[in-house]
Amino acid sequence: MIINKSKVVIVGAGAVGSSTAFSLVTQGICDDVVLTDINQGKAVGEAMDLRHCIEYLNRNVRVSAGTYEDCGDADIVVITASAPYVPGQNRLDMLGTTKKIIDSMVGPIMKSGFDGIFIVISNPVDIISYYIYQLSGLPKNQVIGTGTALDTARLKCLIAQKIDVDPRSVHCTVMGEHGDSQMVPWSRVTVGGKDFFNIVADNQDRLKGADLKQMVHETANAGWEILHRKGNTNYGIATTTAGIIKTILYNESRIIPVSTLLCGEYGENGVFAGVPAVLGRNGVKEVVEVRMTDEELLTFKKSVAVIREFSSQL
Ligand code: 2OP
Repeated sequence: MIINKSKVVIVGAGAVGSSTAFSLVTQGICDDVVLTDINQGKAVGEAMDLRHCIEYLNRNVRVSAGTYEDCGDADIVVITASAPYVPGQNRLDMLGTTKKIIDSMVGPIMKSGFDGIFIVISNPVDIISYYIYQLSGLPKNQVIGTGTALDTARLKCLIAQKIDVDPRSVHCTVMGEHGDSQMVPWSRVTVGGKDFFNIVADNQDRLKGADLKQMVHETANAGWEILHRKGNTNYGIATTTAGIIKTILYNESRIIPVSTLLCGEYGENGVFAGVPAVLGRNGVKEVVEVRMTDEELLTFKKSVAVIREFSSQL
């Protein structure tokens, strides 16, 4: 008898889906990875290629191509499909097209008997996560958007590069929309226990006149810069997704800024937004309410208002 077999189905075998599968396989995070795609041949090809990695990895991971029916006994289903990028558009502009794609997926997935956890990557991720929450009927803890988890990783890299430390030693959280209106509660940013404003004061040479708004803009814009240079983003979002999945499957109770349904936290209800959340075997265990300044809370609520406006178009 296999105890605690863990299975992840990835819907969409494009750059993001296949990179997510690669991250799961190379880290040995779960027992089974199933790739599905409207182009079944692509899913089969990606699965074959990934199986050929096993010889040189730490553990065997079964990788296959499948269908929505494979979601029935899956612990996690990752939704990667998004509208194609149109130059000059932002993620919010993708809502109409992505919504149509999602409409074709959730019904068949739920028909399989799926009662695990959705991890949503599809953009605009906050609104699409809310839409999948509505369509699936699953409890709020079982529908999680990647939200500002990747933005947080990007900001850590940006700060770390400026003061020459390991990004993992930067403690910060990007919150709100995974998009242009996202915000950073700078009053809570620390590196090695030192708060950011003291870091700026002590690193005038490197952080001379650090424009915090510019750093947030640079973080929010990183996805587009990468996309303009290479045609898509995949490694960052894939590894972020694998990290979220690892925390869930290993029941780590790690705090990651994901997009989750707010039910009174930060004074907000009935909207998905990027906030730090404790993640465990059943998905979101608890939303962490960061003690921000009044000005920071206002900026966060403005970002939530953008998400709420577009969610009302669903
Ligand atoms: C990104 O920012 C895919 O929206 C994701 O890379």
